[in-house]
Amino acid sequence: MKGPDELRSHRWYGGGDLRDFSHRTRARQLGLNPSEHLGKPVIAILNTWSDINPCHMHLRERAEQVKRGVWQAGGYPVEFPVATLSETYQKPTPMLYRNLLSMETEEILRSYPVDGAVLMGGCDKTTPALLMGAASADLPVIFVPAGPMLRGHWRDEVLGSGTDMWKYWDDRRAGLLGDRELAELETGLARSPGTCMTMGTASTMTSAAEALGLSLPGAAAIPAVDSAHHRMAAAAGLRIVGMVWEDLRISRILSAEAYADAVTTVLALGGSTNAVIHLIAMAGRSAIPLGLDDFDSLARRVPVLANIRPGGEYLMEDFYYAGGLRALLSRLAALGLLHTGRVVATGRTLGEELDGARVHNDDVIRPAGKPVAAEGGLAVLRGNLAPGGAVIKHIAAEPHLLRHTGPAVVFDGYRDLKRRIDDPALEITADSVLVLREAGPLGGPGMPEYGMLPIPERLLAQGVRDMVRVSDARMSGTSYGACVLHVAPESFVGGPLALVRTGDPITLDVPARTLRLDVGETELRWRRAAWRPPEPRYERGYGALYAAHITQADQGCDFDFLARPGVNPEPDPH
Ligand code: FES
Ligand code: MG
Repeated sequence: MKGPDELRSHRWYGGGDLRDFSHRTRARQLGLNPSEHLGKPVIAILNTWSDINPCHMHLRERAEQVKRGVWQAGGYPVEFPVATLSETYQKPTPMLYRNLLSMETEEILRSYPVDGAVLMGGCDKTTPALLMGAASADLPVIFVPAGPMLRGHWRDEVLGSGTDMWKYWDDRRAGLLGDRELAELETGLARSPGTCMTMGTASTMTSAAEALGLSLPGAAAIPAVDSAHHRMAAAAGLRIVGMVWEDLRISRILSAEAYADAVTTVLALGGSTNAVIHLIAMAGRSAIPLGLDDFDSLARRVPVLANIRPGGEYLMEDFYYAGGLRALLSRLAALGLLHTGRVVATGRTLGEELDGARVHNDDVIRPAGKPVAAEGGLAVLRGNLAPGGAVIKHIAAEPHLLRHTGPAVVFDGYRDLKRRIDDPALEITADSVLVLREAGPLGGPGMPEYGMLPIPERLLAQGVRDMVRVSDARMSGTSYGACVLHVAPESFVGGPLALVRTGDPITLDVPARTLRLDVGETELRWRRAAWRPPEPRYERGYGALYAAHITQADQGCDFDFLARPGVNPEPDPH
């Protein structure tokens, strides 16, 4: 146990020199009595609330519940507004800014008198960003997930975020949906504060955070507007103070076993492919080796147990009522798939926290004998088209496409795709392989979620709902289809995707884990010699910094200078 004099914040407040005096005068200016903060852990509340982020619109108020817990436990809470990365609104994609929020997180925790932190987020990139920064700062932290929104509703149907939007938009494009229906859908798809309630990137990553041991057990599935969410926030505030006294820093929780369990959890959830990039980046900050092949080998033995859209049928609210993540983890633990002896944020072991967890609905959280899919929801592909690897969420694809050869139809960037995809003159059949390039980390830029390329209207009208698609883009976790994603290296840096021409045969073979461009070596060498790198996207500003330091998808798309180990000194407050 630490004593008050050993608190990091003591270096700012506790001494006898001019600086300490100055810091104390400013605490009085803040309206604080000495007894309210001196000798108490300073708890930073990093809040990604913003008026423009509907997924976090309740976090402004929820921070008050966190503070309530911190005060109760004898801490001093300090709220910091940090960048919000709204998946819906921020362009070209919040992925461009994940590393910026991670830098902000790390530097705020480093530069202020902070002893521990509560991290509040959940909308897609906010979770990995906050956790990457916290891992680099290495203080005690607890993550408060924003929580999923309530189920969507339209007429007598239940709607899932993203998933049903894409589905009904395809119906619209196929001429099956009128203006009135569309207006109704507009009000029914997202009906409460909170993150997407399908198993998109948000719930995938908040579940991963809980599996890592960084949230209170059971936190990830609690709906954003449930009173249990208020109580969880207060309990997190209460607990972080204890974590400071126990010096339970994030590096003591984020072990190699913890990361393996997070991958296992993502796979059992049928989670978003984005988790591959984020978990690799997070592990990099923890100096723990984690690569694409770890995902593939775990995917071969972890069954998908969560029956949640887009891979399954239900939504996060159902998952919560069925027992939530603790219930799912207890099933995985019973299969021997988790490391239950490791410590989590509560200071107890994962196994202790899972003790007594129950599944209340076997159709939502399936037993091992009746899984949604026997294999994990993800496969890593390699071959001459993706020497650095690519991923596919094959459980969300039509099975007949998982072994498929077809002629490429190539698009150079999203604009080209938008312009030509519905052109009646486009030569394309259901067997064609749609290829999108210039959509990677540099080419996108920011690797936007363009990976679920739209099916041409003409084919939609014929009833086609899935085709093989290949790109260096990402795909929303709420999307589905035979979409090969994250092709590395990307076309922008001269990856083989840059050499594909319309008409080239491409072979996808998921059981064999291969992605092949069936064009002769000599021809490819000739094409490579003729290839010219595109103009840089940015000449100044954050974009230029990003372009100079971003790594490829198989490396987690972190900045090289953030991912590497090395000295980063604590500031001297004097
Ligand atoms: Fe925020 Fe989906 S848009 S979680
Ligand atoms: Mg998303």
